[in-house]
Amino acid sequence: MNSSRFTRFGFILAAVGSAVGLGNVWKFPYVTGEYGGGAFVLVYLATALFVGVFVLISELLIGKLGRSDAVSMFENLAVRNKKLWKWAGFIVIVPLIILSYYSVVIGWIFHYIAMSFQGLPSTVEQSKDIFMALLTTDVQTQLMYHTIVFVLVTAIILRGIKDGIEKINKILMPLLALILAILFVYSINIDSFSKAVHFMFDPDFSKLTSEAIIVAIGQAFYTLSLGMGIIITYAASLPKEANVVKSSILISIIDTMVAIVAGLIIFTLLFDKGAESTKGAGLVFISLPSVFYEFGSIGSTLALLFFIAIAFAGITSAISMLEPMVSYFMNRFDMSRIKAALICSIFFYVLGIAALLSNISDYSPMLMIGEKGLFDWLDFVCSTILVPIGGILVVVFIGHFMDKETVEGELVPLMGSFLTKVWFFMVRYVIPIALVVVILNETGIFKF
Ligand code: PHE
Ligand code: NA
Repeated sequence: MNSSRFTRFGFILAAVGSAVGLGNVWKFPYVTGEYGGGAFVLVYLATALFVGVFVLISELLIGKLGRSDAVSMFENLAVRNKKLWKWAGFIVIVPLIILSYYSVVIGWIFHYIAMSFQGLPSTVEQSKDIFMALLTTDVQTQLMYHTIVFVLVTAIILRGIKDGIEKINKILMPLLALILAILFVYSINIDSFSKAVHFMFDPDFSKLTSEAIIVAIGQAFYTLSLGMGIIITYAASLPKEANVVKSSILISIIDTMVAIVAGLIIFTLLFDKGAESTKGAGLVFISLPSVFYEFGSIGSTLALLFFIAIAFAGITSAISMLEPMVSYFMNRFDMSRIKAALICSIFFYVLGIAALLSNISDYSPMLMIGEKGLFDWLDFVCSTILVPIGGILVVVFIGHFMDKETVEGELVPLMGSFLTKVWFFMVRYVIPIALVVVILNETGIFKF
């Protein structure tokens, strides 16, 4: 067992720290841009609140009742097919794989923090050249920053739940909130703020395709760190008196607020300089740096604050990706935290190097599988296939394979018997089906 527990506040912070990451500050704004703004935001809010909160409740409850590593919890809490359900716990490998390239991306952010001091690109074209050069030619820089992230994250995990994870979240999350508040106040005072508000909140229902709904469901899982054993693992160190329903609502609301605030900041800055919302990595690493440049003398300060904010968001998420597997090794194999942490860290570090090399033009032919390089494959397989599968396992497990009385006994006092029935219906039928649709659609097996 973990020798230490979170405090109640520490748990919420750590869960929020895991949830708030590149998914909020980078992915949410660009998918919003891609799927037409307001209408997408509306669907996203609905899915974050319904699907997101319901699955969060499931994961918190599994952790709270199981109090172990993810593998043992699935095994112990199953009322039948224990030996089979044990395997569901191996979803903890998914965040470790994600961490390999997530660490590389955090490394890019570090590089951009340094760039904020040295000078920003003056045009979008120049900005694009700089980013592409980093990505496709500069092994040394990427490797250096990936190594720094590896050392940082490992050092924090080595210190355990309370002195490591809880403490770093207590430092970084308030700072992140402060920086976002500063950037937000700055944006509100720019004319294009109202344009950003219209873009994000005027729903144009003609743009509301089934594709947008499916993307929103996928985003809700990714952004709340669901389906990977992360929240389950954190919740195993939850103090006994914690309220799983209230905590879930709080985590989901804060994550959503950060996504919306980040979106408003980014679109205000972009629109002010007449820039477009670009797709993918380009938004943060190509469009924004040159936009910051156009803000003149204050631009580099804005850039610095912005990139520090995403770095903090990224680091707290990265830590949460490492802990589930570490906790598994510690519990099941009686390993020391040091040994478990080193094994897991070295795994993601090496895989991350392979991922970053797959973007380098000189090496990429060796690391290509079909059309995509290793980096893109890892992201594709994890976020579009494995995370939804993990989500299905979680809800099917709690809906059909855990002791119903126990689950009701926990939830009815917290949200009443009607909502508990609604929750059961959602986790048993609606959410698994929705996730199957997500997988079929995103893999292109069947487009809805
Ligand atoms: N939820 C994080 C985000 O929004 C991403 C994440 C993925 C965190 C996997 C942990 C595990 O960026
Ligand atoms: Na998130």
